Amino acid sequence: MPPIQTALAIEASGLVKRYGEKVALDGVSFEVPRGTVCGLLGPNGAGKTTAVRILTTLAEADAGSARVAGLDVHASAKAVRRLLGLAAQEATVDGLLTGRENLIMIGELHHLGRRTSVARADELLDQFALTDAAGRLAKTYSGGMRRRLDLAATLVARPEVLFLDEPTTGLDPRARNELWAVLDTLVGEGTTILLTTQYLEEADRLADDIVVIDHGRVIARGDAAGLKRQVGGSQLFATVADAARLPEAAGILARVSGSAPEIDEAARSVHAGGDEGPRAVARLGEALADAGIEVEDLGLRRPTLDDVFLTLTGAPADAGADAPQAAEVGG
Ligand SMILES: Nc1ncnc2c1ncn2[C@@H]1O[C@H](COP(=O)(O)OP(=O)(O)OP(=O)(O)O)[C@@H](O)[C@H]1O
Ligand SMILES: [Mg+2]
Repeated sequence: MPPIQTALAIEASGLVKRYGEKVALDGVSFEVPRGTVCGLLGPNGAGKTTAVRILTTLAEADAGSARVAGLDVHASAKAVRRLLGLAAQEATVDGLLTGRENLIMIGELHHLGRRTSVARADELLDQFALTDAAGRLAKTYSGGMRRRLDLAATLVARPEVLFLDEPTTGLDPRARNELWAVLDTLVGEGTTILLTTQYLEEADRLADDIVVIDHGRVIARGDAAGLKRQVGGSQLFATVADAARLPEAAGILARVSGSAPEIDEAARSVHAGGDEGPRAVARLGEALADAGIEVEDLGLRRPTLDDVFLTLTGAPADAGADAPQAAEVGG
């Protein structure tokens, strides 16, 4: 496969996609520099899969244009298909073939020839820790194994640009960590990756740049640190045993954090911006203990996708708020 010649591996420009009355994409633009990881972050129905389908030539945009490795996805669909790998949201491997048979078959579909296909299959099975399960039918695999086999299948032809649609949704934390490690290896080898996710944590862990979309629009973009700064960083919190002591706890939290605390009566907790990190947690714990306030929980909560949405749209992710203009956040 020839190396990508352009500096940008992916360029989406004003993509619009309608399904009847429903506007799935409402003018989405973003770029992914070659050799980087872009996280397309958004809640259910945001338009992530639609964007991936257009970029991978599986669907056509109603307006706008897109390029992968410098090639127009519409005009050069065939060439684009040859150089990209796609792990779709739904598993695509054949459950009635073994893991090894799946990978060999894909190699043969890519015209690698039998011998090369077998060698490549065994190499990938090893890389994805599936060698022991290689001879079992894919339908007997666990969710995590199946996701790894899916990913291995997309890598058979060594794509330069990889699209992963929610690669870790439904995986347990351990399987998720294993998959993240595999993606690290790919990035180290220079693969450009666009992955969609509903988890800020995942975008944070893997992506160089994050594009936040909601209701078919880009509502923010930047690196993880920039997005978190925009939502106010980490929150220092304490949950107390006795609600009557909340005002006192809030006073102590104000002193320790140096920022204005908020009280959540229902949760019996107080919270405030806490960018000093774990040391502030220790100081808060001590100060509360000194005041004789019984504490049930104490810690530093990192911003969640919900926090990002609350801040960016003024509404929870599923509340259907009108999206404001995209905000550029730097890191
Ligand atoms: N084939 C289709 N026919 C009708 N509506 C569709 C179709 N595909 C997507 N949509 C609608 O377009 C919007 C965007 O869908 P899309 O699948 O791109 O979202 P998503 O961000 O991938 O969500 P999820 O996190 O649930 O996978 C949704 O409102 C969805 O219902
Ligand atoms: Mg989707």
